[in-house]
Amino acid sequence: MTVPGDKSISHRYAMLAALADGASTLTNYAPGADCQSTLSCLEALGVQVERPGPGRVTISGRGLGGLRAPTGPVNCGNSGTTMRLLSGLLAAHPFVTTLIGDASLTGRPMRRVMAPLTEMGAHIESAEGGRPPLVVSGGALHPIAFAPSTPSAQVKSAVLLAALHTAGTTTVTEPARTRDHTERALAAFGVTVVCEDHTVRLTGPQRLTARALQVPGDLSSAAFPAAAAAALPGSEVTIDAVGLNSTRTALLNVLRRFGAEVEMHVDTRVAGEPMGRITVRHQRYQPLTITPADVPELIDELPVLAAMATFGGGLTVSGAGELRVKESDRISSLVGGLRALGADATEAPDGFTISPLRQLTGGRVDAHGDHRLAMAFAIAGLGASGPTTIDGADIVAVSYPGFFADLERLRA
Ligand code: S3P
Repeated sequence: MTVPGDKSISHRYAMLAALADGASTLTNYAPGADCQSTLSCLEALGVQVERPGPGRVTISGRGLGGLRAPTGPVNCGNSGTTMRLLSGLLAAHPFVTTLIGDASLTGRPMRRVMAPLTEMGAHIESAEGGRPPLVVSGGALHPIAFAPSTPSAQVKSAVLLAALHTAGTTTVTEPARTRDHTERALAAFGVTVVCEDHTVRLTGPQRLTARALQVPGDLSSAAFPAAAAAALPGSEVTIDAVGLNSTRTALLNVLRRFGAEVEMHVDTRVAGEPMGRITVRHQRYQPLTITPADVPELIDELPVLAAMATFGGGLTVSGAGELRVKESDRISSLVGGLRALGADATEAPDGFTISPLRQLTGGRVDAHGDHRLAMAFAIAGLGASGPTTIDGADIVAVSYPGFFADLERLRA
């Protein structure tokens, strides 16, 4: 099977294509609502976007600093990546933009991007508590040396997108490694960016060259069928053309630690992004512990790992307080949902524990407007003795519109 194009990479290619000189063509662009939000935001900022067929997008770049003032609020939908990365771009444009989002996004913290962008010279106002809407008044910026206390690829990327427009050298030094798609995408569009250990250095301004790029499959979407195969006795799944960037593959090691047999083969590299095939086969159940050091590279996969651990082995996660400010409070909603399905699960301030010793019964759960929770509950439900009903399950369209159809095909 294959999975939809990578969400993180799609956002970045679209934004960089909008800034490039010339027209870029993207293939296997993520079909989920989040990446469509990025395209419609770019259109609201004067960028011409064509959609000639499924997964194909042509973006006519406006050149560095060439975005136009929008005529109304720019709607990021459910997408935190869209709002945070666009804040970085807009910080360098000399006009005022109001960024809004849906109810989930309106509850999410934005100070983490406001602080460094303000330090660079932008003016950004938010609602109470640093929440959206954001009103970004951009203009000429100055470079900074930024060392965030919490690792975040979105924050790093917002600063790098601002730095691209800014005369001088900006550095971002992170306390731990985070996904490096922005760095690789910048290089693919012709920008010189220097990465050493956990520091990224970018000297602006630099212009970008339009490109034709293929987006690899999203390993965070592949995580759902992969975890199902690891959990269900007698199962095996092979996923082709999936992104295998080493800042994203921690999941595969965790599946091995869980007892699954995992093969990974990189067969090509597109714009610096390795892609290839993975095969995951059930073997046995072993207990899993996810420590604070594991969390940054696994953050999006923790809901499905919790679902997988209900089959056997169990799971303890700590140092993952960040889960509370994702698309939902992914600690209390996840634990509450798995308990409703019969799991023995307990919440901690910065994590949770799933005990291995109880088969799920099934039942009724709410997706809490969170695509990854809807999919995690579906995987958990595969191991239950009775049926599982997920209210609000159509939220999977945020990242993986064909999720239920794919799951049904795999089951057959
Ligand atoms: C993302 C980074 C991560 C991740 C999110 C996508 C990105 O968020 O959870 O789904 O595309 O940069 P943080 O930067 O908040 O850790």
